[in-house]
Amino acid sequence: MIPAGDISAGYDLPALQAALHTRVLGRSVHYMDATASTNSTAMALAEAGSSDGSIVVAEVQTAGRGRRGRAWHSPHGRHIYCSIIFRIADEHSAWLSWIPLASALAAAEAIFETARLPVLLKWPNDMLVSDRKIGGILCEKVGGQGQSVVVIGIGLNINCDQTDFPSDLTNLATSIKMEHGRTVDRTAVLAALLNRLEIRLDRLRSEGVSETLAAYVARSATIGEQVRIMLSEAEPIEGLAESIGPDGCLRVRLQPDSSSKGDSTVIEVRSADVKYVRKVTARS
Ligand code: BTN
Repeated sequence: MIPAGDISAGYDLPALQAALHTRVLGRSVHYMDATASTNSTAMALAEAGSSDGSIVVAEVQTAGRGRRGRAWHSPHGRHIYCSIIFRIADEHSAWLSWIPLASALAAAEAIFETARLPVLLKWPNDMLVSDRKIGGILCEKVGGQGQSVVVIGIGLNINCDQTDFPSDLTNLATSIKMEHGRTVDRTAVLAALLNRLEIRLDRLRSEGVSETLAAYVARSATIGEQVRIMLSEAEPIEGLAESIGPDGCLRVRLQPDSSSKGDSTVIEVRSADVKYVRKVTARS
């Protein structure tokens, strides 16, 4: 851990501390030049007793993880790779399923605050600008039963050009620099992210989900769209993404088939069961 006061090569850690309005988030920073995955490091630190709100930040991840076992592109010194240790008093709280969605919302708010970019949220927790992915969230629970720690892993694409992405991401990913037109101070974005995230998590804890749900829907790129959903063990299904349920599920009105006499069914899909959700742009 680097105590506040040292300056890392990339982030300005004293400036980070000065810009924070948080009680606990980011007050203890484990800054690393390289790690396999900040989530893995944070999970180990959480098991070893690191305090609530401690964060792990790295300049590069050699095995950055995305959702559903995918890799997360993590080149040195350009983007934000950050994992937050979030300790939970009651692991049965109704709002726990909202942690990833609220984290995406906080990241969207931080990007708007620092770069004035309008970020939309693709259910459940992808951040999009210009219909391309600018960031993602990977939440992982630490330990087994009785352990009440969630590591919130956040990856934000900050300072790269389109040609810096690997070819499979060129048309799917974007960065703040690409959208904003110039290089952005990662320290300022990270501070805004931590400030917004603590507000969002505190609000969930004290007020429940209703305000978060409304704020999330207001930024949704998914609600109101015709979507194709691939569930884990089934054929893709299509329908209208109608609303978000109180546990963060996506409610989809299926297209009535010829046997249903025009009646339509609403199904609830949960992120753990879904391989992908795509907007239906053209009939194939
Ligand atoms: C996604 O697939 O959209 C989630 C991407 C999450 C990436 C972040 S980067 C920091 C943290 N460490 C990881 O290995 N993954 C998350």
